[in-house]
Amino acid sequence: MFQRKSVGQIQSDHEHSELKRTLGPLNLILLGIGCVIGTGIFVLTGLAAARYSGPAIMISFVITGTLCAFVALCYAELASALPVSGSAYSYTYASMGELAAWVMGVLLVLEYGLSASTVAVGWSGYAASLWADIHRQFAFLPDIPPQFTAAPGVAVMDASGAKIAVGVINLPAIAVIGAVTMLLVRGVSESATVNNIIVFIKLSVVIAFIAFGIGFVNTANWHPLIPAEVPAPPPGTPTDMFHQITRALWSVFSGNSDSKYGVGGVITGAARIFFAYLGFEAVSTAGAEARNPARDMPIGIIGALVICTILYIATSAVLVGIVPYAQLDNPAPIAVAVNRMGMPWFAVAVKVGAIAGLTSVMLVLLYGQTRIFYTMSRDGLIPPFMARVHKSYKTPWINTLIVGGIACGAAGFLSLDALADLSNVGSLAAFALVCITVIYLRVSSPKLVRPFRVPLFPIVPILGAIMCLFLLKSILNKPETGPFFLGYVGFGFVLYFVYGLWNSKLGKGEKVLGHEASPMELPHGE
Ligand code: ALA
Repeated sequence: MFQRKSVGQIQSDHEHSELKRTLGPLNLILLGIGCVIGTGIFVLTGLAAARYSGPAIMISFVITGTLCAFVALCYAELASALPVSGSAYSYTYASMGELAAWVMGVLLVLEYGLSASTVAVGWSGYAASLWADIHRQFAFLPDIPPQFTAAPGVAVMDASGAKIAVGVINLPAIAVIGAVTMLLVRGVSESATVNNIIVFIKLSVVIAFIAFGIGFVNTANWHPLIPAEVPAPPPGTPTDMFHQITRALWSVFSGNSDSKYGVGGVITGAARIFFAYLGFEAVSTAGAEARNPARDMPIGIIGALVICTILYIATSAVLVGIVPYAQLDNPAPIAVAVNRMGMPWFAVAVKVGAIAGLTSVMLVLLYGQTRIFYTMSRDGLIPPFMARVHKSYKTPWINTLIVGGIACGAAGFLSLDALADLSNVGSLAAFALVCITVIYLRVSSPKLVRPFRVPLFPIVPILGAIMCLFLLKSILNKPETGPFFLGYVGFGFVLYFVYGLWNSKLGKGEKVLGHEASPMELPHGE
């Protein structure tokens, strides 16, 4: 359970890597942005502003961006010291041992696999909206019945926010995951060039939205920045900022608050838009393909995060400036704002850009999931068929079909809210574990060469871990999330003791294949 892959072994595997080192700092930053900008900004921003933060959604983005900066610095240190593929799973295997690596693998399924389903639901919202535009022009084309564009029981809204149906199944979300899965089975690799083009389109859409949108901002919509708390606190409650913040932190932590608006709402909103930042750590999966990983991985991880944070704050400010926040509870809020700007051609461009951008996020996330399972299977922790590679396509096709099937089911039948919550809890727990790994490794392997070191050690990783665990607790307070998460992790432990512990190659003393000696196609670069 506590056996570790030696750091030296991982570093020497890495030196004998068969992967080509093609990615420079710019590619790595673009890879990060490619995986970060997606459903979070295109969909969840509206929902979080309408339900929790109000115009202070911009402050929620600052709070979450700060948390992610702490975590990103920790990832940067690990990625520069252990520049391997397999990401956080490999880092924990080399530091805290097999059981911790297993737990990390279990969490990463939520972070990568379920995130792909979450993005698919966002994709479905934009695709339905675009199809409605096309249908208005070409009425002879078939319409998509609205009840087939949302999970069971979820209300379907039109562009004006009016309820038009109740969902039965989300067919577009299932279809897009199915298509991405097929691409991955066939081995369409997420080449650096394709990724760069999609990122360019996505960035252009976001920057154009900010640039055009600024002219349509009605500053009255920003006031009050933090709407009054609902329900109002009991009379006599101190209202100075210090008391508001401590009360909000406590009520969010203890789960005694609905936290609608007020300072508590801003913090709840910060937890809800956490999903928007996921993906900056995906850069760490490309460690074996970076030209100069020691220097460039930290640049890639931190650079992607800084750029996305700036864009997110600006986009959310413009969004709530154009549309009053209460009207933003819609699956395509940016499209709602663009419709208000009265530029129909731009509305279509935004939707096309969002659809292309979200597709690339799903591709990277599902790819990441299959690669993590592949690595775990080669380590003997999950059955060997998960590492079986297709003879002609050179892809782990069984693994990919299983991952795609589960992601399809989740995308078709779970609401965006539930999916985002589950992805968030998995990621927050994984991030906390990464922060703790940095501390552990500094103590256990002080001599390890670390080209990049977290500044202000140990304050940054400690703060990162505490903030992650705080947000985690706030989401686990929800009755539909807490029991599922605990049951899921508990089930993961059972699987380890039933299978992983007995079949681990490290445990049996067998040679563990280097994570890089992969016969598969590569995700980034060629
Ligand atoms: N951050 C990515 C998104 O928002 C996962 O879609």
